[in-house]
Amino acid sequence: MNLIFLGPPGSGKGTQAAKLSDKLGLIHLSTGDLLREAVKDRTELGKQAQEFMQKGELVPDALIVGLIQDKINSGKLSKGFILDGFPRTIPQAESLKSMLVESGVTWDKAICFNVDDNAIVTRMAGRRLCPTCQATYNVNVAGAMPKVEGKCDNDGAALTIRDDDKEEVVTHRLSVYHTQTKPIVDFYKQESLLVEIDADTNPDDVFNSLLDEIQVAK
Ligand code: AP5
Repeated sequence: MNLIFLGPPGSGKGTQAAKLSDKLGLIHLSTGDLLREAVKDRTELGKQAQEFMQKGELVPDALIVGLIQDKINSGKLSKGFILDGFPRTIPQAESLKSMLVESGVTWDKAICFNVDDNAIVTRMAGRRLCPTCQATYNVNVAGAMPKVEGKCDNDGAALTIRDDDKEEVVTHRLSVYHTQTKPIVDFYKQESLLVEIDADTNPDDVFNSLLDEIQVAK
């Protein structure tokens, strides 16, 4: 199964992708995680991307499309994949379509997780991230808190707050989402691939709605 996860920043794409890849053994490909890794490792891509990410702007299409092309060419996605955070612009959506057609890969659905902007700003204030394994927690959401305060459940690393989770940057990321990314929801509607999910409920209920939509047993 090959899926694309869409939705505003903080709508729970990463949380749901992690749960679904655990359940079905799909590869979870998050462009945000790949870029944060590149920034941490100070690669050429990371150096170019960092300034855009800190401001809450999108990284230029050419950089991101090259990153995804490399992953598709590597053949590692053949078990099935979830694209989380890509595409984010119409040119990215068109490039992805061409890359997949050229590689003979089909995709099943584009899932859009919908959450109201005000709820997102509140949510993001509580997000914590493991810098080692990228696991995501929320100190304000039951079921998303770490077992030990400030420590990752998986590896015990000290949890961090993302630079781009400051309220003013989140507000800007939401505006970038509405102007640059929202149009691809219509793109996938026209391709008859779009499924919309109310993601403003607790993470387990969202996951159950997701399983219903992709017809996977709970
Ligand atoms: P990226 O990391 O992709 O950020 P994003 O899309 O803005 O999404 P987030 O990771 O912030 O949120 P999410 O939807 O995954 O939610 P999560 O599950 O974490 O991108 C970062 C930056 O990289 C971009 O701004 C851009 O600069 C660049 N970039 C990346 N891809 C790019 C591309 N294709 N093109 C150009 N630039 C690109 O959940 C959020 C919080 O809410 C967590 O604390 C979680 O525990 C909690 N939570 C999850 N579900 C629920 C729920 N149902 N109820 C309550 N709380 C919940």
